[in-house]
Amino acid sequence: MAERERTASGRAGGKVILLGEHAVVYGSPAIALGLTLGAEARAHEASVSTLELGGAEHLPGPESPADEADAARAFRALLSALGAGATGARAKLSIPAGAGLGASAALGVALARAVAALWCAHGVEHGAIARAALAWENVFHGNASGLDTAAAEHGGCLWFTRARGPSALTSAAPLQLLVALVEPGASTRTMVEKVATLRRAEPVRVEHCTSAIAELVERAREAILLGRLGDLGASMNENHELLRALGVSTPGLDRARGVALEAGALGSKLTGAGGGGCVIALVEDGSAAAVRTAWERLGLGWLEAKG
Ligand code: PMV
Repeated sequence: MAERERTASGRAGGKVILLGEHAVVYGSPAIALGLTLGAEARAHEASVSTLELGGAEHLPGPESPADEADAARAFRALLSALGAGATGARAKLSIPAGAGLGASAALGVALARAVAALWCAHGVEHGAIARAALAWENVFHGNASGLDTAAAEHGGCLWFTRARGPSALTSAAPLQLLVALVEPGASTRTMVEKVATLRRAEPVRVEHCTSAIAELVERAREAILLGRLGDLGASMNENHELLRALGVSTPGLDRARGVALEAGALGSKLTGAGGGGCVIALVEDGSAAAVRTAWERLGLGWLEAKG
């Protein structure tokens, strides 16, 4: 298909969740920190819509066949949310997918920005990028809270609730986080459904965990605003134990976290949906090298995140 001249591009970062994943789905607050790395997209006007992603080409036709790949369905939802015409797009990631780093949200925001720049010549309506990216994200996640797409859109350190959306959180002390790439993650949809199943079976226990997580997120917010990194680390540690109680940690995540704490991290926990994926560690100048070395000894790769 012939590519016409008009093209546009967009980018967005991934994120780590400092505290509050899973509980955020049920209305509790969460805190996220944007990553510099994420996704890039390019879009052009075309005669039929196509999306090239990870070496595969997806063709979202006007109808949605039952066996259609999620990426085609998600791209159709994104184009329709923006009122866009037939678009050819290509997107690529600079963070691992399915590791709890918000890769699909970064792709959704990068694509929404590229598509909006192509079709919305008179500017984009407030909230349009977030709505389009969430329409994309919901195809993959079913019941996404919107935290990942908000973090991909705004970056920085964010306070988020499902009811009120994101607001910037300014830390009184620089936040230095290391992210270990521990193992392939389970899908967010599967992990969110796992917690939902547990919540139906044991509502009192799950409610206890989600309200305890909400309290920790409030405490962490105070700690960030006051620059009390030791308190922030302690809240992250307690949050990890509650995520374990919800059944979303794994032996690999627990091990990576354990060695980070032994190496001097102020706090460490799994980040994102769990069932595999990544661990974050809050470090200071004095402990960063030891944590990196401890993870390298386990054969784990790592990234940095700052706020
Ligand atoms: O998709 P992930 O692994 O980055 O994490 C999603 C966070 C959850 O709270 C588990 C789900 C959500 O929609 O907020």
